[in-house]
Amino acid sequence: MSVRPTRILGPAEWEEAAALLRTGGLVVFPTETVYGLGARADQEAAVRAIFEAKGRPADNPLIVHLPSVEAIDPRIARLDERSRRLLEIFSPGPLTVIAARGEAIGDAVTAGLPTVGLRVPDHPLALRLLEGAGCPVAAPSANRSGRPSPTDLASAREHMEGRVDAILDGGACPRGVESTVVRVEAEGVRILREGAITQEALARALDGAPVFGPGEAAAEGPAVAPGSRHPHYRPQARLQLMSAAVLLAELAAQPDPRLRAIVLRDSVSDPDARDPRLTIVADLEDFARRLYALLHAFDRAGATRILVEWPPDRDLGRTLRDRLRRACGDGDPSAA
Ligand code: TXA
Ligand code: MG
Repeated sequence: MSVRPTRILGPAEWEEAAALLRTGGLVVFPTETVYGLGARADQEAAVRAIFEAKGRPADNPLIVHLPSVEAIDPRIARLDERSRRLLEIFSPGPLTVIAARGEAIGDAVTAGLPTVGLRVPDHPLALRLLEGAGCPVAAPSANRSGRPSPTDLASAREHMEGRVDAILDGGACPRGVESTVVRVEAEGVRILREGAITQEALARALDGAPVFGPGEAAAEGPAVAPGSRHPHYRPQARLQLMSAAVLLAELAAQPDPRLRAIVLRDSVSDPDARDPRLTIVADLEDFARRLYALLHAFDRAGATRILVEWPPDRDLGRTLRDRLRRACGDGDPSAA
């Protein structure tokens, strides 16, 4: 792994970041979900450098980012009418749509698949950067492989300083969890990775067309994103999921200063009874926005155990349950 001096660029310096991307460099940039690790999607050497910087398995494909749906020309992807319509409804926004790839997108981006993931991020700095770069930008989340995604500058630096040409500072990411990855199928829309756009929101926007969750029986190939096979989102500390009642009892019984915990406000009868080890999140959106930043902060503080309340199995709670399960090592067949 070659060491790259990394420039930390302020929001006003996005044009320098765009120039670095254009010339084949690696740039970490903010989106509304998490920070991305970007490179030109149409240059194989640039794309390979992403995998090297992340330590990412080569069989996990990358999402291609564009400044608008109109910027998706046939050299990038061939969008059927229903996929284009779906992207138009949610763009800019945290939805990634899988489509047939065009000739400018090589095997390194798609891990050899005939399809490519497309997304228009809803972040002013990301859109300026993508417009300025003038090329499709492949970008996974900017974490070292297996770790929680960075959602602020400090975490992005922890993961990528010395490995990329620049990090563009956009402050905290407003959504905090990754985009929802979907594929349009004959019978409806299939979620391959849960994310910031909920199954309920997709169903509402689709006016009754069925929306299938990940893993539900699929006629058209694997029903989960290829990346789901690999370990993901793991903090250094051991993470455990439990009901709020068990969590609060455990916290009260264990004086260990290296313990940390997260609960939803509605689960705490007396929100003023503050234990400094306990973080109370306001609702599911707040939980999603803060989750990865909290995991990074707990690791920095030397935490050894993190107790987290199971979020409810609806709306963003579903996405959080997926990430949290993986963060504690469940759901990854390859993880020992
Ligand atoms: O919010 C996000 O999506 C962030 C920001 C930076 O845009 N990006 C992100 O990328 O989360 P990454 O690489 O960490 O996750 C991409 C997911 C993986 O689960 C991958 O397997 C799936 O998308 N994916 C990419 N291309 C695919 C394809 N052609 N078919 C099926 N799944 C695909
Ligand atoms: Mg990721």
